[in-house]
Amino acid sequence: MRKLTNILVTGGAGFIGCNFIRFILEKAEGFSGRVINLDALTYAGNSMSLADIEAKHKTRYFFEHGDICDRAFVESLFSKYEIDTVAHFAAESHVDRSILGPEAFVKTNVMGTFTLLDVARNAWKDEKLKQGALFHHISTDEVYGSLGETGYFTEKTPYDPRSPYSASKAASDHLAMAYSHTYGLPVTLSNCSNNYGPYQFPEKLIPLMILNMLEGKPLPVYGDGKNIRDWLYVEDHNAAVWEIMRNGKAGEEYNIGGENEWENIKLLNVLIDITAEKAKLAPAKIRDTITYVKDRPGHDRRYAIDCSKIKRELGWKQTVSFEEGLARTVDWYLANPKWIESIRSGEYQRWVEKNYGERG
Ligand code: NAD
Ligand code: DAU
Repeated sequence: MRKLTNILVTGGAGFIGCNFIRFILEKAEGFSGRVINLDALTYAGNSMSLADIEAKHKTRYFFEHGDICDRAFVESLFSKYEIDTVAHFAAESHVDRSILGPEAFVKTNVMGTFTLLDVARNAWKDEKLKQGALFHHISTDEVYGSLGETGYFTEKTPYDPRSPYSASKAASDHLAMAYSHTYGLPVTLSNCSNNYGPYQFPEKLIPLMILNMLEGKPLPVYGDGKNIRDWLYVEDHNAAVWEIMRNGKAGEEYNIGGENEWENIKLLNVLIDITAEKAKLAPAKIRDTITYVKDRPGHDRRYAIDCSKIKRELGWKQTVSFEEGLARTVDWYLANPKWIESIRSGEYQRWVEKNYGERG
């Protein structure tokens, strides 16, 4: 098992990253080191998400505001905190935004990943490498393209990215593995399916639908609503990432998934029932607000992950059922109006109005 001491988490103010930091500081066993959260606080980053953690773990949690593309700043963090581990979550992560404005995706996802890899390569000389330094790169199942009605993505599925987002993530994955093969940098890589849970920015399907239901707004379903995604509760994803970081083999890729495929429209119907019950709303009235809208250009039809490798080799498995995970998620959005307000009053509101006006 690797001893991880000073972990640089990038994108720790975002959805999965903030849940990861919470998980390793408060739940995961066997970690007594420090966490340094490097985040640029883009529209998707929210410092409120870890305010309690910052107050509680003053000697173990440090926030550094900055850009992963800023080489000098990244270098300074490696030396200031003697970084021996990187958990690289930071990215531009929303497919629709990548269609409207791909440049930021290439900058952060490709150049930012390159910068981090290159700084790690230069910083980690013999001693750190012997101590078990590791660069873990977090990626997506979208790099594999789109499936028909059958089949699964395995670690051997050829890459076939189809959106600017997935193309930029594919490029970053290739760079990470190239640094492993060419320079011997200890790299692990994980490709995960759709996450959901607390602190997810409400541009993604599940939180967007929950908030629109609560506000009586239309529920925009793209195309015929029959695209399929494989959903995984965020904490199960982070437990898998943590398992890979501690026990995964350097140079290896691991697929992570929920084994939980849902057509968007069927998922929405389940979510309506759960939200209606918890918020004391009439489900039939909410169903009337379902609105089929213009499809996402190049919309991938189906994702499905074969995660047998990580189950077999590292003993990871999902622990939160979809029903339980959705219930926890709805509860969280109902209990955190201040977090929602911090987003609603900022950049998000303006962006939605500008780009999604016709979608409701
Ligand atoms: P997110 O958009 O919620 O958060 C991204 C975070 O990165 C934000 O805090 C943002 O401020 C930060 N960031 C963006 N650009 C930066 C830069 N240049 N420098 C420093 N920080 C920057 O994303 P997420 O949903 O939490 O996804 C995290 C990672 O997991 C991404 O790499 C994504 O590709 C991957 N992933 C996400 C999912 C999913 O369902 N959300 C599934 C599989 C993989
Ligand atoms: O598969 C992993 C990926 O999952 C991650 O790499 C991405 O970062 C993450 O954003 C997510 O991508 P998707 O495009 O699958 O997620 P999104 O929540 O945007 O959409 C899920 C499905 O719901 C997709 O088929 C599009 C559809 N959709 C989405 C929105 C926002 C709608 O029908 N209506 C909507 O309003």
